[in-house]
Amino acid sequence: MLENLLTPETRTDPYPFYRQVFDRGPVFAAADGFFVVSGFEEASALLKSPAFGHGEPEVLPDPHENEPVDEQGRVVRSFLALDPPDHTRLRRLVSKAFTPRMIEQLAPRIEELAKELVAKALEMGEFDLMTEIAKPLPVVVISEMLGVPLADRGRFEGWSHAMGRALDPSFLIAKETVAARREFVAYFRELAKERRKRPTGDLFSDLVSVSDEGDRLSEGELVITAMLLLVAGHETTTNLIGNGILALLNHPEQHRELAGDRSKIPNAVEEMLRYDSPVQLTTRLALRDTTIGDEVVGKGAQAVVLLGAANRDPRTHENPDRFDVDRPSPRHLALGQGIHFCLGAPLARMEGRILFEALLGAGRAFHRTADPVWVKQVTLRGLESLRLEFA
Ligand code: HEM
Repeated sequence: MLENLLTPETRTDPYPFYRQVFDRGPVFAAADGFFVVSGFEEASALLKSPAFGHGEPEVLPDPHENEPVDEQGRVVRSFLALDPPDHTRLRRLVSKAFTPRMIEQLAPRIEELAKELVAKALEMGEFDLMTEIAKPLPVVVISEMLGVPLADRGRFEGWSHAMGRALDPSFLIAKETVAARREFVAYFRELAKERRKRPTGDLFSDLVSVSDEGDRLSEGELVITAMLLLVAGHETTTNLIGNGILALLNHPEQHRELAGDRSKIPNAVEEMLRYDSPVQLTTRLALRDTTIGDEVVGKGAQAVVLLGAANRDPRTHENPDRFDVDRPSPRHLALGQGIHFCLGAPLARMEGRILFEALLGAGRAFHRTADPVWVKQVTLRGLESLRLEFA
């Protein structure tokens, strides 16, 4: 049943399929052995429950030289896919760089970047929002935070895109991600050597010095953590910008309202995250016998949590399919919930807010000049291309 996620129609608009899934129950035992969770409260409870996690990383008997493994030969996973206590230890090491106060300090630089990108688009007149604005903004921001040279940005885009595919559940994954992961690892190992000799005062240099101090961060964990930040901070925010602008273009009255009162942008960003979530699903493993909603779930069962469906649960959201920038404090699971709640949430929200400010405040209306083209991924929902023209 979940293969239906892959059809071209569902990729363009997954919401009718989600409604069919939800109608079979907010928690539904699919014939293919998965529990599919599409109800808001059920998904939220599952993500907060210690009975669900990611389980033990797999052992690689004969690892490739650029496939980091620990002393037991287990694949080194990023903390996105680890359970406590490793998750807690690794998340803590980077979390101080993502506090709202630290992120607020980045605002002037992000404003400068957003203005530059919008000015360039204005000059072009007709442009692709994804290529000119939605892709470059987050990649420049996270590259600067981490301290990876901007000259290497072109290489990241391909790797990062392939790694994004790795977020698709294993029944949907392509093998190209393995190669991308190894190239990424080799890249960060080299960069670690340079930063060890000459630290540059950025997040990656800080992590290199922590890993040199001893037992808190291994070399494998260092490179995987850097990759996580680069990948997680990149395409997700790109998709918030693309999906958000598309929602405005499809709802001209909301577009006009927001352009007329830009103080509504922070609320509109939450509604954009709810209405067309950049991360559509996540997965968990039952670590013991447990329940989700009314369903009994045995240890080892896989749960697919449809965040994009839960965000349109008619029991928790009035008119869930309506895009409404005035919806009072939109509730959503677009940034996750529980111990894996998005570490970059303050940054993502700020990038979105600043960019929408710059575009809607440019003093020129814009419209679409071609049909939007969706990417082929399922977990990360976003546009390949959205061609616009300033009036
Ligand atoms: C985790 C969404 C931007 C870093 C997550 C999760 C979601 C999410 C749904 C939880 C996944 C799960 O529970 O399986 C988003 C969205 C973004 C965004 C929609 C943009 C609109 C960012 C940015 C960064 C970032 C800008 C950092 C630079 C992370 C990290 C985690 C995470 C490190 C793992 C947290 C953990 O496992 O403890 N994000 N994210 N994200 N996000 Fe984001």
